[in-house]
Amino acid sequence: ASVDLIARAESAHELTHAEIEQILADDSINDILFAAADRVRDKYVGEEVHLRGLVEFSNICKQNCRYCGLRRDNHDIERFRQTPDEIVHMAEKAAAFGYKTLVLQSGEDEWFTVERMTDIIRRIKALGVAVTVSIGEKTSEDYQAYRQAGADRYLLRIETTDRALYEEHDPGMSFDNRLRCLEDLRALGYEVGTGCLIGLPGQTLSSLADDILFFKKIDADMIGVGPFIPNPDTPLKDAVGGSFTLARKVMSLVRLLLPDSNIPATTAMESLNPQGRMIALQSGANVVMPNVTEGNYRRMYALYPGKICINDTPGHCRNCITGKIQAIGRRVADTQGFRKKAPDR
Ligand code: 5AD
Ligand code: SF4
Ligand code: FES
Repeated sequence: ASVDLIARAESAHELTHAEIEQILADDSINDILFAAADRVRDKYVGEEVHLRGLVEFSNICKQNCRYCGLRRDNHDIERFRQTPDEIVHMAEKAAAFGYKTLVLQSGEDEWFTVERMTDIIRRIKALGVAVTVSIGEKTSEDYQAYRQAGADRYLLRIETTDRALYEEHDPGMSFDNRLRCLEDLRALGYEVGTGCLIGLPGQTLSSLADDILFFKKIDADMIGVGPFIPNPDTPLKDAVGGSFTLARKVMSLVRLLLPDSNIPATTAMESLNPQGRMIALQSGANVVMPNVTEGNYRRMYALYPGKICINDTPGHCRNCITGKIQAIGRRVADTQGFRKKAPDR
């Protein structure tokens, strides 16, 4: 029975593809799964929640992912590109709010050449924070240059490990190149973050089981799981979208199988449920990525509709999230929050 599988996974951190699929299909055990993931989270990464300040610095993207509002064929959003000085200034303010990690995220914007990007990374690294970069698929040489400039981590979601589905929803992109990127990042000594979307049209529970096993196979350091939310400005505007509960289940299973990884309570979870991030933190997650982007740029970084905090300031979000974390009996970490690999694994 599914309960026995969950109990076994809680101690052994292993499940087969068929077992994962069975748990995903069985909604009678959801609360048991969430509670098990919460215990594994507590045992391996503890009560601390790591905050990563998210800087969204350009919404210009050369790619055309069918689910994403930043896709190049979307002419219904206003585009922005911050200058390097603006980005560094935003980062300085975020560091002053106490963020120990800053995440530099953008669309695949070619204005940010490797020279410009390394300059920005160096200046932000000098603030004494851990630097995560999330700007898409680049060459090995570029990844190496960012690393030498001080980048500690890189986020690149695989989105789905179903090759056909990937190439359908990310037209013009190559699944093999995405894998190559993740391998390069690992070889260069980054902490590697990846993740997937839940509820893409055509995605099956079997495919989600593959995603979970993929994260385990590459021993991902960070795994972000979020529901796909249909965006009216994209070809997938009439799609159904992912469910909060299914995304939560996948996240909990990831915690069971990768007990010492860092797992964010994603913004998309909160966009579907007003308590989504706190529920996620109580179902296996141990990281939150509050937005530290300022002014209208938040609204313009329109990946999907209903994105939270679009009218809030960095200071407001910082206080808001601290209060919420304390209200569920957890504590905001004051370290950079690198993955601590469990000794027995
Ligand atoms: N719904 C949810 N998440 C989305 N992303 C892009 N578009 C959507 C959407 N419509 C996610 C992708 C990407 C991350 C930055 O945002 O997974 O990796
Ligand atoms: Fe660009 Fe990323 Fe959106 Fe794809 S998901 S269109 S690469 S910003
Ligand atoms: Fe932005 Fe709560 S985190 S308003």
